[in-house]
Amino acid sequence: MKKIHSLSRIALSAAIIGAGFVNAQAADETIRQLAKERGRFIGTILNSEWFNDAIEPEFEEIHKTQFNVVVAENEMKFDATEPKEDVFSFEKGDKMVKYAQKNGLRVRGHALAWHSQVANWVNDYKGQKEKLLAVLKNHITKVVGHWKGQIAEWDVVNEAVNDDYNADWRSTNSVWYEGIGAEFLDSAFVWAHEADPDAELCYNDYSIEWGLREGSKASFVVEQVKRWKANNIPITCVGTQTHIEIAHETTPQNVRALAKALAELGVTLNITELDIGFPKGSAGNLTEADYAKQGHLYRQFMDVFLEEPNMGEFVIWGLTDAHSWLDDQQGKTEGLLYDKQYNPKPAYDSVMASLKAHPASEVKTPYPDSVLNPPVKCDTDNCDDPIAIKTHTKLSSISMHLAGRTLFVTGLASKTAAKVELFDMQGRPVFSTKNAKGNVDLSSISEGLYVVSIRQGATRFTKRIAIK
Ligand code: G3I
Repeated sequence: MKKIHSLSRIALSAAIIGAGFVNAQAADETIRQLAKERGRFIGTILNSEWFNDAIEPEFEEIHKTQFNVVVAENEMKFDATEPKEDVFSFEKGDKMVKYAQKNGLRVRGHALAWHSQVANWVNDYKGQKEKLLAVLKNHITKVVGHWKGQIAEWDVVNEAVNDDYNADWRSTNSVWYEGIGAEFLDSAFVWAHEADPDAELCYNDYSIEWGLREGSKASFVVEQVKRWKANNIPITCVGTQTHIEIAHETTPQNVRALAKALAELGVTLNITELDIGFPKGSAGNLTEADYAKQGHLYRQFMDVFLEEPNMGEFVIWGLTDAHSWLDDQQGKTEGLLYDKQYNPKPAYDSVMASLKAHPASEVKTPYPDSVLNPPVKCDTDNCDDPIAIKTHTKLSSISMHLAGRTLFVTGLASKTAAKVELFDMQGRPVFSTKNAKGNVDLSSISEGLYVVSIRQGATRFTKRIAIK
């Protein structure tokens, strides 16, 4: 039986934090709600299986309820949108845009100029600079123009920096670079801006989460952004894809350093393709401690994201481990927030704990109100607001209050074990107990602020508590 998020909603009653009493029936909030309250966008791709109507129903139910930004895994790339010269195919992209408008999701467009997934016919013009400029300009103008005002942000150029740390462009296996030279990047941004002056325009790349040291991809990207800004090239954002492994523990702080460097240039940094995979061959051998470690790394990325004022989007490259390029193509595994049965993993809980540990009053947004609260654009008269969806489901009655060092949990289902965990404000687990039936003794916990996470089956909620 697939256990998924019960879209239950527990009324949020007044929390009384005074003499150590917290009496809160925490709402079964969603990532989406907490992101929206903080002026941020957190989301994931629509996998290609979704576009082909070949995915489980849980996928969309969770996607539109838990997230507020969406991007197509493959369906807005060059080969998908212009399969033949000057013959465009927008149906699949239109399907996503309609879904996003109906469900109040921001849309990222991915990707206009990329060396990979270029339609085969483009290679007929290899080396022909003027023709390639005309082809790229026509592609960008028609694609961005088709979704003008509906796609908030584009990955205008993707993965154009080379991988050998010599601070230079990718100069091989790129029909654009080899045929036009580096000017294709500047031109791509100008054409995208002409086609939709209101769209945010990003440079997107991988391995720029490895630090700003001399010669690194990240430092080369920052140099290019400096040059583009000086030359009035209309770039507004950088995307760090951040496809990493569980061992890459320095990357969150590297992303923070990159955010700070770009903040000085007035440019937003988005995490655009995060997954935190386990190494090849570990599938089936992973322990709770492994998943907790993954959760801790997700927590650190979310902490950085919420604490850096010029970060806007946190996009994960997949919703469930059941559908992930990691397993299909990378031999890594299980890098996402939901497992293959659509159960939220500790990584989900860590993302929620980070959001709860960063109150809306403390999180800055890089977006104006017109971006955070756009006019509703869906073309049907029944635009869903997934936040409202939750009121149509049954209420569950878990509640929790703290008296001194004892946590009283009521309303648990009698037959299912409940897991109670306590995290400090840095997201480190400090306490955990299973089979909680009611009272949980926290006498070993020192004074301070913590986030309690109570999980029972697919139901969970988190709440900040003060132990005095
Ligand atoms: O659509 C065809 C299908 O008709 C055919 O039967 C099937 C078998 O050959 O292939 C299908 O195309 C695949 C496509 O995904 C759609 O599923 C391609 O072979 C496959 O190469 C392609 O992989 C995508 C990959 O980009 C291509 O580079 C992954 O799904 C996608 O997750 C991945 O995403 C990229 C980002 O765009 C850029 N950053 C890196 C990230 C991971 O590589």
